[in-house]
Amino acid sequence: MHSRINLIVYLLLIAALIQGSYSAAKQSTPGDRSSVVFQVTGNVYPKGYYHVTVNIGNPPRPYWLDIDTGSDLTWLQCDVPCVKCLPAPHKPYKPNKDLVTCNDPLCASVHWPDSLDCKSPKDQCDYEVQYADHGSSLGLLVKDWFPLQYINGSVAKPRLAFGCGYNQEVHASMDPPYTDGILGLGLGKTSILNQLNELGLTRNVVGHCLGAQGDGFLFFGNELVPSSGVIWAPMSTTEIEKHYSLGTAELYVGGKTSGIKGLPIVFDSGSTYTYFSADAYKALVSMLTNDIKGKKIYTANDDKSLPLCWKGSKPFKSIQDVKNVFKPITLSFAKSKYARFQMDPEAYLIISERGNACLGILNGSEVGLENINLIGDISFHDKIIIYDNEKQQIGWAPANCKKLPNINEDPDPGGLCKPYGSNIDILQAYCAA
Ligand SMILES: *[C@@H]1O[C@H](CO)[C@@H](O)[C@H](O)[C@H]1NC(C)=O
Ligand SMILES: *[C@@H]1O[C@H](CO)[C@@H](O)[C@H](O)[C@H]1NC(C)=O
Repeated sequence: MHSRINLIVYLLLIAALIQGSYSAAKQSTPGDRSSVVFQVTGNVYPKGYYHVTVNIGNPPRPYWLDIDTGSDLTWLQCDVPCVKCLPAPHKPYKPNKDLVTCNDPLCASVHWPDSLDCKSPKDQCDYEVQYADHGSSLGLLVKDWFPLQYINGSVAKPRLAFGCGYNQEVHASMDPPYTDGILGLGLGKTSILNQLNELGLTRNVVGHCLGAQGDGFLFFGNELVPSSGVIWAPMSTTEIEKHYSLGTAELYVGGKTSGIKGLPIVFDSGSTYTYFSADAYKALVSMLTNDIKGKKIYTANDDKSLPLCWKGSKPFKSIQDVKNVFKPITLSFAKSKYARFQMDPEAYLIISERGNACLGILNGSEVGLENINLIGDISFHDKIIIYDNEKQQIGWAPANCKKLPNINEDPDPGGLCKPYGSNIDILQAYCAA
């Protein structure tokens, strides 16, 4: 099973506690028209991950980064030299001399209570990050150029801090993504998104659209946020603060309540599948099993693609073949009555290589997620998901992820289709249409 759960469970930046308080001098408030868009490549099955290509350094070199809203720190496999680097599409990044030092506010910005004092302010800033699937990266913080192209074609060249990871571990049972590192899009200070916002370059808003057929797009800024049709729910600041949490929800299957309420929900693009806590998982499986009775669909115990698969009288070719059998699963949020997150079959089933329909919602208690309910890539299929850190809200709307949404009804928003915009692949198709 190719999957990953990039939800940060532990971050330690070995940092000095700085005297006095740090507040980043925001250079200017970025305008509404300062968005960056990336083409996303990948799929839930069989690959198990989605990545973007990010250019880093001077001269810039391309790196494939797994997009992860479940953690903050961006890191690349790094040659300082590499103690343990995993197989990757590009050579490990070679840092320049620009190390983040122990007295740098970014090194100190760690909210971890037991961070170590550094011996000298000029010491390097070490980090260690561990994910829920027991993968980890150990390294030091460095700074380098991140050239980014706005959708109007202009290029910004910020210097951003990120991790140079020289020791990566993966759990023996995991097949790690074939990428050079992770793009951390969480809500913490070290996140690339927060750094770009502090530099006055983009709004503190990130969104993704992951296609059920694979691929899609990722954006920073609010230009691609649809002007209507988005369901917004407030982020929960009390519960699982480090993550994009939406508070608690009640689980419905096919419009009927499961009776299970108070499920803490976290959105995590770094997780391939969705994970429900044991009670919710049990209720879900029993309701789905009940619903398919008498519909000539049977459990396929011989298919090990995922823990629970179903077969029909002949192999399924696509989700369309089971759409009338499997009902939508809905999460109804306690804090915002009208905010319902609906998962149609393409948001919780995959069709395995053997032509069975397999449940892409797994038992989180089995992988140690305890009571967190993690909404992963499979459930984001064919939706645009927006994490607005400025308004502290998360939004979603159905979308065709092969196409950019209409931007405020402007036929050529931000001069997107002017000659200089057309060298961004995803815009070419958009402009040609
Ligand atoms: C493109 O947008 C950026 C960010 O808002 C702005 O700084 C730049 O001047 C714009 N460039 C053009 C050519 O409009
Ligand atoms: C889910 O996992 C927990 C912990 O391993 C286990 O006790 C429980 O039986 C599992 N539930 C189902 C329905 O498989």
